[in-house]
Amino acid sequence: MRIDIITVLPELLKSPFEASILKRAIESKLVEVHLHNLRDYATDNYKSVDDYQFGGGAGMVMMIEPIDKCISALKEERPYDEIIYMTPDGKTLNQGIANQLSLKENIIILCGHYKGVDQRVRDHYISREISIGDYVLSGGELGAAVLCDAVIRLIPGVLGNETSALTDSFQDNLLAPPIYTRPRDYNGLQVPEILFSGNFPEIEKWREEQAYERTKTHRPDLLDE
Ligand code: ADE
Repeated sequence: MRIDIITVLPELLKSPFEASILKRAIESKLVEVHLHNLRDYATDNYKSVDDYQFGGGAGMVMMIEPIDKCISALKEERPYDEIIYMTPDGKTLNQGIANQLSLKENIIILCGHYKGVDQRVRDHYISREISIGDYVLSGGELGAAVLCDAVIRLIPGVLGNETSALTDSFQDNLLAPPIYTRPRDYNGLQVPEILFSGNFPEIEKWREEQAYERTKTHRPDLLDE
């Protein structure tokens, strides 16, 4: 998979890909992540990427021309399955969307900034608009990092068996069950007996019940889906 991220703040997007699972995924060539500074596609001497709103109103708007130039340059090199715009008024990211995107070959992620982008970009270039939650960030970069993390860890081969994404929360619309490790007794705080029974069908049944109870308590909306 190849991910091209278009941003006015590439420096904000470096570190998420320089550690842990995402770093390893890139090193093992399971994914390529390329950052593109939108200012490199600006057409005036000031490297402008934003301008005032037509009709008046506070806040600057990202201009169509640099975005068009950047996307067109990328599309000349290869076809893209998705061009995603990160915006608080997009569809809220969930595990289902992450699963779908993890199967794509090439995607572009455009990070919104200022008041947002010229609507013509959204109407004519963008295939999907994604929000990472009902709150407003200063820009789409952190959202893009969250999206990349959620997607990349699902690419086959990125996680080993022991950390398989199949047992993650949300994969079957249930939260993950409680987990424990040593010591068995910490100052009187005990680990549930069932986990030492050696009876794996019973342990599995217990985990399913716990996952269901936890979902019912914390996220009953997931059970309606
Ligand atoms: N840009 C600003 N807020 C955002 C959000 N909640 N999700 C994605 N991109 C954003």
